[in-house]
Order: sequence, then C-alpha cells, then structure tokens
Amino acid sequence: MAGDDRVLIFDTTLRDGEQSPGCSMTQPEKLRVARALAELGVDVIEAGFPAASKGDFESVSAVAREVSGPIVAALARCSREDIEIAARAIAPAAKGRLHVFLATSAIHREFKLNMAREEIVRRAVQGVQWAREHCADVEFSPEDASRTELDFLAQVVEAVIDAGATTINIPDTVGYTVPDEFAQVFAYLRRHVRGIEGVRLSVHCHDDLGLAVANSLAAVGAGARQVECTINGIGERAGNCALEEVVMALKTREAHFGVRTGIHTQRLYPTSRLVSSITGVAVPRNKAIVGENAFAHESGIHQHGMLKNAQTYEIMRPEDVGLSRSNLVLGKHSGRHAFRERVTALGFALEEAELNRVFEAFKALADRKKELFDGDIEALVLNAAGHESGPWSLLALTTASASGAAATATVELRHVDGRTVSMQGQGDGPIDAAFKAVEAATDMSLRVRKFEVRGVTEGEDAQGETVVYVDHAGRSYRGASVSTNIVEGSVHALLEVINRIDLAQRNALRQSAL
Ligand code: KIV
Ligand code: ZN
Repeated sequence: MAGDDRVLIFDTTLRDGEQSPGCSMTQPEKLRVARALAELGVDVIEAGFPAASKGDFESVSAVAREVSGPIVAALARCSREDIEIAARAIAPAAKGRLHVFLATSAIHREFKLNMAREEIVRRAVQGVQWAREHCADVEFSPEDASRTELDFLAQVVEAVIDAGATTINIPDTVGYTVPDEFAQVFAYLRRHVRGIEGVRLSVHCHDDLGLAVANSLAAVGAGARQVECTINGIGERAGNCALEEVVMALKTREAHFGVRTGIHTQRLYPTSRLVSSITGVAVPRNKAIVGENAFAHESGIHQHGMLKNAQTYEIMRPEDVGLSRSNLVLGKHSGRHAFRERVTALGFALEEAELNRVFEAFKALADRKKELFDGDIEALVLNAAGHESGPWSLLALTTASASGAAATATVELRHVDGRTVSMQGQGDGPIDAAFKAVEAATDMSLRVRKFEVRGVTEGEDAQGETVVYVDHAGRSYRGASVSTNIVEGSVHALLEVINRIDLAQRNALRQSAL
C-alpha cells in the first residue's frame, strides 16, 4: 500500500461524533448529514452502531438504503449478535463495510474486559471471521491501540489479517499519543506484521491533547491510507480529528505529503455549517478552515499585504473551502434567479421543492429586513433543514410586556393529529411568558438549562439565532432557530426541543414493545 497516493476519508460524524453529549441527531437529520457527506466526497460514512439501539439500527439502515456513493460502514463489538445486527443494517447498501473492534491495551484487558492476551486474540479473530461471513469488506480496530504493548498489537493485527480483515484501523482512543511516537507505531507494524502490505492501514485519533490532526498526519506520513474523522471535529470528550483540517492540510501541503483525497473541498464550509446547525454545537470563531475568523485579516499590516498579494498572509483561498462570501446584498426586489445563484455560490445544493420553500421564507424576511446578507441566506437554508421531526408547530404568537410588570404571551400551536391548542402564560419577560404558554399547550414541564442568542449578521435589523438547551428525564436536548423576532425564534427553538423529546419518547415506546 505504501506506493498508493490516495488517502481514503472515513467520516464518523454519525457514529463517534453523534455519540458525544449534545450531538444526538434524529433520523431525518442523520440522512441529511449523510447526503451532505456523500456530496462532500467522503469515501466511507460510518453511519452508526446498530446494536446500540433500535433507533441506531434504523438510521444506519436508512443511510444504507438512501445514500449512494460512499461505502456505508456499521460498528460492531466482536459478538455474533452485534455483527449480525450490523450486517442486517448495512444490507441495503451498494457498498457496505462491517467495522469490528475490541480493546487490546493492558488497562482495558484487565479492568474493562477481564481477559488475558490469548482470549483477546481469539475473540478478535472470531469477530473478524463472523463479519467476513456477511461482508467482504471488514475493518478491525484494536481499541486503545496507542497504549497497547507493540509486540501484542502486532500479534493481534497479524491474527485478524489472517482471519480476513481488509482494513486495519489504529485508534488513539484516549488522545494520548504524540506525532513521532504514533508514526513509530505504524512503522513498527509495517516492519513486523506479516501480510500488512495487503491491507489498508487506517488512523483514528481523539483530540484530548489537541493533537488529533497532527497525529493523523503523522500516521499518513508513516503509511496510513485512511483517516477517520468528523465534521468540525465533534466527538467524545475533546472530539475527533477534524475532517476539514486534515483534508486541507493534505491538500495545502500536497508536495510535502505526496498524497491526495477525493474531497470536494468547496463543500467543506456548507457541510460544517449544516452539522453545526443540526447538532447545535457552535464552531469556535477561530477554528481553522471553517471558523468565522479563519480568513479574516484585522491588522493593518496584514490588510496592506493582502491588498498587494493575497498570498502574503493567505495559504489557502476562502473559495477553496466553499467560503465565497460577497458583499452582494439581496433585497425584496431580488428575483428567484439571483437568489438561486447566491444559494449555489454559498455551496448549498437544494432540490427544487426545497429551493421554493426557502425562497418563500426569503421573500417574507425581505419584507421585514432592508438588506439580506450571506449570513441571512445561510440561516434561511439551515433553518429550513431543521424542524422536520416532530408533531408541534407554531401557528400564532402574541406577547405584551411593559417595564415593571409581568409579561403575558398567548400561543396557538398545531399538532399533526389536526388539533390546535391555544394557551396563555405569564412570566418574567416575553420569552419566559411564551415558554410557559408553550409548556401549558404541550403539557410538558421543562427546565431550560442554557439559553443563547447571537446576531447572524451585522446591523440593527439582523436576524438572531436562538439556541435553547433543556434537561428532561435524564437527557439533554437542544433546539435552535433563526428569526428577526427573537421571541418567536425562541418559541421555535423550544418547540424543536419538545418535538425531539416526543421523538425520544416514541422511540423508547417502540423499543419496549420489541
Ligand atoms: O476511539 C476509538 O477507539 C473508537 C473505535 C471504536 C474505533 O471509536
Ligand atoms: Zn473514537
């Protein structure tokens, strides 16, 4: 494999990313992300861990059925039951992969698995053999590989290659390794494992020390030809290797690494925005590649240099990552054609019906707001991506408030079963009053843990993005919305939370009926 200059991008946003707190997605949201990943050009989508829950199984199976292009992978422990469930979930995929894993480090062997080395080798081999009964494409991961004794790691890897694994993934599960040490692990395996030249070597890094991208690049330098990563680096604890960072490092420093990926880099920014808006996990302003400030030059000296020659301070062009910001302002006289062009330039590929829906929302917004910027259009598109998963929607909202007096709100909600419910609430300000009215109308008692509002663009008539975090029955939920009216936006965000709770309750009922 060493001469192969193509690095596969294995995206695990829907599995390792989604399993981190606050990142859970509904099935329609997972499908939307999976389609965006396919358009981005990832080689493998790890769609979930089907044995974890019925909901996970159904999401993996929906991605396998409905998303074409990439290989669809499912994770499984080395147990026959897990592997059979995972195999059923990926069965509809044109190209499917089973990804089986078992921890190998001394600390996991002793405290988590209570297994001796021989038992680990036996179970790993057995897992790969079971997986091969269902699928020709089988990946094996020795969990916590970076803290595993090298000779034992080599023994396990050689045994699973003999058993039929076609990809060997080396995870830095706890984000402990450093680049030169990790490169040596790959070099060691390539020197000591019989048959390693016949399989694809993969790397999977966590970011506990902020080294996930650096460690992944070191592994590529040492022969890895698949990188496992997530959009915006979401994932357990400090997250996973960020897809956009590792891809742009490989592209910008192609002469150094001598490898390429199949990623359409102009789709990085819109995909990042989509994942952030669906999960509600904001991208830090200074985040490399997709952060708001990633291409902003504030200092006079930098601006001067940039005006003379952009390359003085810019190693990548914003348009290479899909950031084609312009000062072009749209307004209520802008037609459908200009709107479509702007949406496309921002990197969104909308189907006709979706474009019509967003264009209607654009017209309504343009009636209230003089000028619409790229941030507004992005927010409209991403707003239309949410709110598709639940029974409640807002029909009307009226609020009244005055300084020194309690505020009142009346909401009228529609339920998918055809009912409309109208309720009043009183509270400390219009948002509090509206939330009380919504809770009464939906018969829910909620505790809002965190509430955030930020301007999407500049200007006094800017739209505000509202994000509401709620803890309910031991789980955390998040809802978000964008509107020029932050009270109305807050109600939409709270309804998204209520719809998510409803979905979780229906899923739990389905599971208990199994
Ligand atoms: O971090 C890890 O070890 C994993 C494995 C399942 C690949 O996510
Ligand atoms: Zn992981």
